[in-house]
Amino acid sequence: MKPLAEMAVDVLTTADGREKTALSREYAAFWQAARGAGETPGIGRAAPPRHPARPAAPELLSPRDVPRRRPGTPAGRIALLHAVAHIELNAVDLHWDIIARFAHVKMPMGFYDDWVKAADEESKHFKLMCDCLEEEGSHYGALPAHAGMWRAAEDTVDDFMGRLAVVPMVLEARGLDVTPGMIEVFRRADAGSAVAALETIYEEEVSHVAYGSKWFHFLCGRHDEDPKERFHALVTRYFHGPLKPPFNEEKRAEAGIPPDFYWPLTEEV
Ligand SMILES: [Fe+2]
Ligand SMILES: [Fe+2]
Repeated sequence: MKPLAEMAVDVLTTADGREKTALSREYAAFWQAARGAGETPGIGRAAPPRHPARPAAPELLSPRDVPRRRPGTPAGRIALLHAVAHIELNAVDLHWDIIARFAHVKMPMGFYDDWVKAADEESKHFKLMCDCLEEEGSHYGALPAHAGMWRAAEDTVDDFMGRLAVVPMVLEARGLDVTPGMIEVFRRADAGSAVAALETIYEEEVSHVAYGSKWFHFLCGRHDEDPKERFHALVTRYFHGPLKPPFNEEKRAEAGIPPDFYWPLTEEV
């Protein structure tokens, strides 16, 4: 089996969404089979691209140029599914990128187990959203999408703890806040398969945030740093703007993110 960092770069340099996520799932299955057989596969080293390869469509626009559609309409629901598909494809790349980007930092094997599992789930989420879009007569690439998604990765390109603070503990935690409202939109429209897909995503995203919190705390312990203070310093440095309530305090707690981590970073304070 190839070293994990090389597998990560293969996924990052595959442009087509369905191909990228199929390769991601195939590599995750190799990794999990090896780990299940009691092996300790190599991590190796490989240089991830500055920007992952992406398909020619969707066209990427600045967030203010992406047309807004009302969620109560069929076109609005397609736009919502498309936006989530785009987030999930970006998440696939983010999960493989952290593996390759920070392969020089010695980490326990459990770190890689968690990130490979999350990358596999993001790949499944992308497929679920593509299938829902196709059921609605659309497809990923049919609408424009946000151009700024890779920014968090670029900002934290040389800061492992910054990456953990901003990506799983801020961006993916934000997903926990907004997903229940999205599920409601599709429930009201009687869109059963979108409801089921979003419920799967919602459930699995809790563990992604939890992996972020777990390994962030691990690194704080390694460097003898106070986790809450370090988190505040990193988010202030790398995340642009305040965090926005309302927060899903229950799911954030389940994922190991206590209120004193996020409330002090809201605009009210
Ligand atoms: Fe996801
Ligand atoms: Fe995730």
